[in-house]
Formats: sequence, C-alpha cells, structure tokens
Amino acid sequence: MYPIGIFDSGFGGLSIFREIRRLLPQYDYIFLGDNGRAPYGDRSFEEVFSFTNQAVRRLFAMGCPLVILACNTASAKALRNIQQHELPAMDDPTRRVLGVIRPTVERVANLTYSGHIGLVATRATVSSRSYDMELAHLANGLRLTARACPLWVPLIESGRLTSPELKEEVKRDLSALLAADPDIDTIILGCTHYPLITSLLQQVLQELDHPEIILMPQGKPVSYALQDYLRRHPEMEQRITRGGSTQFFTTGDVASFERLATLFMGHNERIHAERLEWGV
Ligand code: DGL
Repeated sequence: MYPIGIFDSGFGGLSIFREIRRLLPQYDYIFLGDNGRAPYGDRSFEEVFSFTNQAVRRLFAMGCPLVILACNTASAKALRNIQQHELPAMDDPTRRVLGVIRPTVERVANLTYSGHIGLVATRATVSSRSYDMELAHLANGLRLTARACPLWVPLIESGRLTSPELKEEVKRDLSALLAADPDIDTIILGCTHYPLITSLLQQVLQELDHPEIILMPQGKPVSYALQDYLRRHPEMEQRITRGGSTQFFTTGDVASFERLATLFMGHNERIHAERLEWGV
C-alpha cells in the first residue's frame, strides 16, 4: 500500500485531513499525530526540524511516497530544509513533502477586501515570518498583522475546547490583534489546531463587535492545492494506492486521540488509532 501521509504535532492536522479526505476519498491515508511531543509552537528551530524530519522519514518508511505537513509550525521551520537538503540525499529522492503556508496565502489574497489581513498562529510560526515572506512574493500592497497565541494549542491538546480559560485567552489575543490593525477584515487561522475552536472564535468576534470578520481555516485551500498538485504530477498520482482507507497513529494517549478524532472528523465511523513509538 502507498498512502498519502499527513503529519501534525497533534490533533490540529485533523482539520486539514478532514477536508482532504472529503475532497479526495479515493486514496489511502496514514495520519500521524505527534501528541506525545506536542505542542511544537514554543520549541526551537532545531527541535521542530528534527521531530518533523523524523516523522517524515517514518511515514516514508511506512510506504508513503507523499507527505503533507498539516502543521504550520513544521511547515515554517522544517519544510524548506527537508525539501532542499533531506529529500535529495535519500535512497528514493522522488518522494515529496508539501506544506500548508503557500496554499493559504494564495487563497487569502483573494478573500480580503480591505487588504488588511490578520494572522493568529504559534510563536514559532509568527517568529519565522514565513507568512510575511510568502505574501510578499505573491501580492503587493497587502498588510499582514500577526499575533502569536501560545496558550491556545496546549488548551486544545488537553481537550479543554470550551473552557472559560481558553475563551479568555482567545478574547485577549483577538482584541490585541484588532487593536494593532482595526482594518483587518480576514483572519488566517495559521495553526491547524484553531479550526477545532471555530465556534468559540466566532462567538468572541461577536462579543468584540466584529462579526463581519472572515475566519480563514486552511483545510480547503490545502486540499484543493493537493488535488491540483496530483493533477500536475501524474507520476505521483499513479503511485498512490486507491483503497479509500485511513490508519491513524499517535505518539500520545490512544484513548484521548480516538475520542477527539472521532468527534472532530465528524464521521459516523468510530476512529481507531494505534500507538507509534519513536524507538531509538
Ligand atoms: N498545529 C500546529 C500548527 O499548525 C502546531 C501546534 C503546536 O504544536 O504548537 O502550527
């Protein structure tokens, strides 16, 4: 079997995977969440690179010819290095790794009317300035204001999706973002964990008197970008097997993963996950 590998530091990648599987149900998939080492958002460049590289190599070893980094932090800190230095040196240099930042930026430029875009993301993603650089390549005259939200992911990973503590954090961060640029009309959810709290984000925007602001999750832009990639690369498309199956792996607690994944994937099927050990 030659599945598409989907990798995230934890649960967030499910928000991307849900859309990918909806659009492209015919392929086989392996989802790997490194919940045991999440969050990545406050980790050093070296750590994020080494964990991501390890995960990509494991997914390759499991048969995936193509891996999607369904994680902004990993895309920001590790993708370029893996593409430029790791892949060419491998025994099979035809395998590929894709990220989430470029498809998001390509889409957001068409969504904003005011040209003022907000970004909420992890500290690692914000400090990498990857979004600023991608946006600068693509379109002139757009203004990006970023806000690092370091507490959102730990609260989401711990399953406290509707806690007052999380709501307070969200309110504090969104208020600060909108105070920094009151003309923002579109906010990129620049962390794949954030769509898990979309209704909380909408509720807070209402309370801040900004119900008109568009929240932009990444699932659709990433899934359509993948579809387009596969159309443009028939040699890759033909390698991927079409059994419509998914295997879930987590390096964290299997029962919590299964509970959250079943809830979040929104399918009637119950999700079974297997524990993955990194070994030595
Ligand atoms: N979901 C990830 C992202 O898109 C990483 C969150 C984390 O591990 O801090 O950035």
